[in-house]
Amino acid sequence: MKKILLTVAFVSSLAISGEQFSMSDADKKMYEEMKENNPADIFVADGEEKFEELFGGEEALAKFLEVSEKELYRYIAGFPRYIKKMGNVVGLDQVLQAMQVEAGKKMAPLGSEVIDFTSAYVKSLANDENITIDVEADDAIKASYALGEKIYSTRRGYRGLSCKSCHAMAGALLRTQRLPDMGEVNTGGTWPAYRMTMSKLVTLQERSQKCMIDAGQKPLPLGSKEMVGLEVYITNMAKEKKQVIEIPGLKR
Ligand code: HEC
Repeated sequence: MKKILLTVAFVSSLAISGEQFSMSDADKKMYEEMKENNPADIFVADGEEKFEELFGGEEALAKFLEVSEKELYRYIAGFPRYIKKMGNVVGLDQVLQAMQVEAGKKMAPLGSEVIDFTSAYVKSLANDENITIDVEADDAIKASYALGEKIYSTRRGYRGLSCKSCHAMAGALLRTQRLPDMGEVNTGGTWPAYRMTMSKLVTLQERSQKCMIDAGQKPLPLGSKEMVGLEVYITNMAKEKKQVIEIPGLKR
């Protein structure tokens, strides 16, 4: 009980609200301009080249996923999904890794430029499509969603914080940063995104690792069941708000 009270005190002591911290008109304008000319476009274009050269492009991806090329972009809008031949619920990045394995090539690690840029490009094939993740589709995704939900609300690390401790206070300010409602800001549809504070393309799982570190938690490994579960859970929040895919996103 004591611990919980301390946690609440910790969080609320950081959540100072005040007009002086909201984005100024000039900043908003700059943000809109950058969105028109997202610096990550160049990484996504690089991903397109890599996708053609190293993975065989859309034809090979459609073949791997056992869907028609015509249906491919709609199918992409429903990731993460259970992929039977992989025996797991996976993100697009892991699908690319599996394609490398199937082709007898060396598998690039999750978080590498090859995988991040290429998976950003692949997700962008579904731009403007509604997010269609189906967390009821099969037992595997049901379990993944349940795991993601559990991790989202489990307190970990020396500060005793869960994702929910902060993110349930959407709209509040934490160290001058507004806590996003992940459904409203379309987190599921906008990552991989360009992070202005890091000047690089970052995936949803990498972004989540950053929050874990900031919250004093050991970051969960990319591609782990737990991390994919979180991605499933967070992506579903965007789906519930009827969001569409918009890759690459542009974030602070
Ligand atoms: C200590 C408070 C805190 C905790 C705990 C926390 N976050 Fe965050 N998170 C933030 C803040 C603040 C931002 C927005 C920062 C900014 O504007 O750059 C954010 C942003 C994010 C974003 C980007 C959202 C978007 O689309 O812009 C993701 C994804 C995210 N958090 C995931 C997580 C996950 C997963 C957890 C739990 C493992 C978690 N966060 C725990 C404070 C927290």
